[in-house]
Amino acid sequence: MILCVTPDKKLNGSCCVPGDKSISHRAALIGSMADGKTVIHNFSKGADCWRTLQCLEALGVEIQQQENGKICILGRGLNGFCEPDDLLDAGNSGTTMRLLLGLLTGQDFFSIITGDPSLRRRPMGRVIDPLVKMGADIRARCDNTLPPICIRGTNNVHTVEYTLPIPSAQVKSAILLAGMNGKGQTTVIQKLPSRDHTERMLQYFGAPLTIKGNVICLQGRRPINGQLIQIPGDISSAAFIMAAAVLVPGSEVLIRDVGINPTRTGILDVLKLMGAEIDVLEQRSWNGEPVADLMIRSAQLKGAEIKDPLLPRVLDEIPVLAVAAAAAEGETVISDAAELRVKETDRLKAVASELRKMNVEIKEKPDGLIIRGGQLRGARVKSWGDHRMAMALAVAGLIADGETIIEDAGCIDISFPDFPDVMNALGAGIRAEN
Ligand code: S3P
Repeated sequence: MILCVTPDKKLNGSCCVPGDKSISHRAALIGSMADGKTVIHNFSKGADCWRTLQCLEALGVEIQQQENGKICILGRGLNGFCEPDDLLDAGNSGTTMRLLLGLLTGQDFFSIITGDPSLRRRPMGRVIDPLVKMGADIRARCDNTLPPICIRGTNNVHTVEYTLPIPSAQVKSAILLAGMNGKGQTTVIQKLPSRDHTERMLQYFGAPLTIKGNVICLQGRRPINGQLIQIPGDISSAAFIMAAAVLVPGSEVLIRDVGINPTRTGILDVLKLMGAEIDVLEQRSWNGEPVADLMIRSAQLKGAEIKDPLLPRVLDEIPVLAVAAAAAEGETVISDAAELRVKETDRLKAVASELRKMNVEIKEKPDGLIIRGGQLRGARVKSWGDHRMAMALAVAGLIADGETIIEDAGCIDISFPDFPDVMNALGAGIRAEN
């Protein structure tokens, strides 16, 4: 699929975005480990979360998919899963693979997890290392670092005190899910905070999890009960609409029901730092997650410095922030972002290469980018098979001179299949062609 983007059409009106991808994965995984029924509303429409559901079904979980994104999960308890009779396929989803390995550490049977070519290149040593310490027998390609991964779990999960070497929510979550079956207390220490949806969701399900400063403690082998969950809109999907509304002159957009968990709102802070006007309205809480409506108006942006400790809070938004920087006055410097090289693609390299085709002055550093703002030029660019690249480039097309064509854009299905429709309903000109 290609996306053809016609520029200069201002965006007006209101919209919603799909259910949060990170929270949807966790609701499905933790609901499956609970006793009884978990009902989830507004489950993500993206392919990644459907991979999690398919893997859980292959592990014996009964899942009923109902209308309007409503899903019912009949939990199997902490360690009542069944040995799968085929490979588990996580597709493009790093979260599915890493969190599922945590769940499988406490299941006394054998499984093999694989994924698509992009996922089979992503580093798994970071989860394999702590899970082996917790008692899982794990074998993987390339010196135990790359998928496919074979895992034999255990009914004797050891508890650990583990200091995370990188601020990764996926690693933290894998350890906590394994710790649910540990005899005693599992402790995770994080030097820099990463998204905390697993901690919030486990607490919401009644797990004995406490957080003091940067130390998370979980008591294992305490059964949890099924819950009713409403998934907030995904701020990482909203980020594309926010950036578009800020960048296209004359725009004013209201995005309803967006998750504003403070570990995820770096995009709001950075856009505001660059000069955007964003109002956070009607703040409320859904199953322990803060939610709000966001009102965004267009503004002239100026360059900014984006680095730690902010970086983990805007990790997935760097491609679209690079587009905002390309249209801002002056220079933007992004640092401490080397993790972006091991996402769905090497996002630093991909962003630099594609934005250069659009006339942007951009330099790649080992851990970031230096971007000088100016006028973008429409071009034929490609997504590198990465959903966030495809949508960031579409936003760039909205403010370029002339038409922009984004090749290999079918990957938007990973997180935001309706992206062109939602944008067009606001007034954008984005045509999807096969
Ligand atoms: C995610 C954590 C982040 C993020 C990814 C989703 C999660 O990855 O980039 O899109 O749901 O836990 P890392 O944990 O590798 O930083």
